[in-house]
Amino acid sequence: MTGIVYARETDLSSADYIAVVGETYMRDSRPIGNPSRVDEMLSGSNFVVTAREADGTIVGLARGMNDGAWVCYCADLAVRESYQGKGIGKALLDKMAELLGPRVGIALIAYPEAAKFYRKIGLDEYPGFFRERNDQS
Ligand SMILES: CC(C)(COP(=O)(O)OP(=O)(O)OC[C@H]1O[C@@H](n2cnc3c(N)ncnc32)[C@H](O)[C@@H]1OP(=O)(O)O)[C@@H](O)C(=O)NCCC(=O)NCCS
Repeated sequence: MTGIVYARETDLSSADYIAVVGETYMRDSRPIGNPSRVDEMLSGSNFVVTAREADGTIVGLARGMNDGAWVCYCADLAVRESYQGKGIGKALLDKMAELLGPRVGIALIAYPEAAKFYRKIGLDEYPGFFRERNDQS
């Protein structure tokens, strides 16, 4: 989609995160009712890339944890529902890869609903495992 600006951000606000994630089905699996916990998630994420309209409106984000030498774990990829299907999700991951450089790969655990998207954009597929947390609040 033209006119969208993709950039790394180091101080994404919980309000912007909630604005995006709250407009996807991920709203039911992220603590968006607890902005201070979202702030903690963002402070612990050293590689966040956003997609914004020219007027600054946030429309998508990729939230990653990067070791700087081998792998960046992408904990969230989300595009606002009204902006989905316009190439923004793919562009966010492409921008993340470009900024990470050739030494660092991107790993993530996909929701079943999103698996087709990752296959479509050409990511390699491996079994994923996840130890669930107890506190979802
Ligand atoms: C999944 C998500 C990030 C994809 O972003 P998007 O901007 O909608 O996807 P894009 O427009 O970049 O799609 C790129 C390609 O994948 C295809 N695609 C997108 N979502 C798809 C899906 N769910 N199933 C199959 N193909 C899909 C698009 O049609 C497009 O194909 P094309 O190049 O032939 O046109 C976005 O839909 C989203 O936020 N969904 C809800 C949250 C989510 O599932 N996040 C991922 C958690 S693991």
